[in-house]
Amino acid sequence: MAIINKLFIHQFRNLTSQYITPCKNINLFIGGNAQGKTNLIEAIYYLGHNRSFKAKTIKEVINFNTDKFQLDAEIDKNKIKLKKSNNKSTISINQKNH
Ligand SMILES: Nc1ncnc2c1ncn2[C@@H]1O[C@H](COP(=O)(O)OP(=O)(O)O)[C@@H](O)[C@H]1O
Ligand SMILES: [Mg+2]
Repeated sequence: MAIINKLFIHQFRNLTSQYITPCKNINLFIGGNAQGKTNLIEAIYYLGHNRSFKAKTIKEVINFNTDKFQLDAEIDKNKIKLKKSNNKSTISINQKNH
């Protein structure tokens, strides 16, 4: 099982700048309606699958006020970086582009 040690979310839907360090056991995300709970789960899914489980286009997941999003994570001992705009996509694992 992969463990997310650190997660930085930048301009993904309404999550303009979020940094989380999940704990090893159960993590509980509590918030009112439309605060971004599902968006957080979608960002984590995006990291693992390089796609959304609901958006058909990249544009939908990029924050309305900008033109790209970025996810940075430390998963197990690996550093994953995913940057996306409408016309460019960069994925790097431990500083190597893929
Ligand atoms: N591309 C986007 N840019 C900015 N905000 C967005 C974007 N897509 C969705 N949102 C906002 O995200 C909010 C919904 O977040 P969501 O994670 O579904 O909430 P919940 O906490 O209820 O699960 C809404 O306020 C919606 O306007
Ligand atoms: Mg929700």
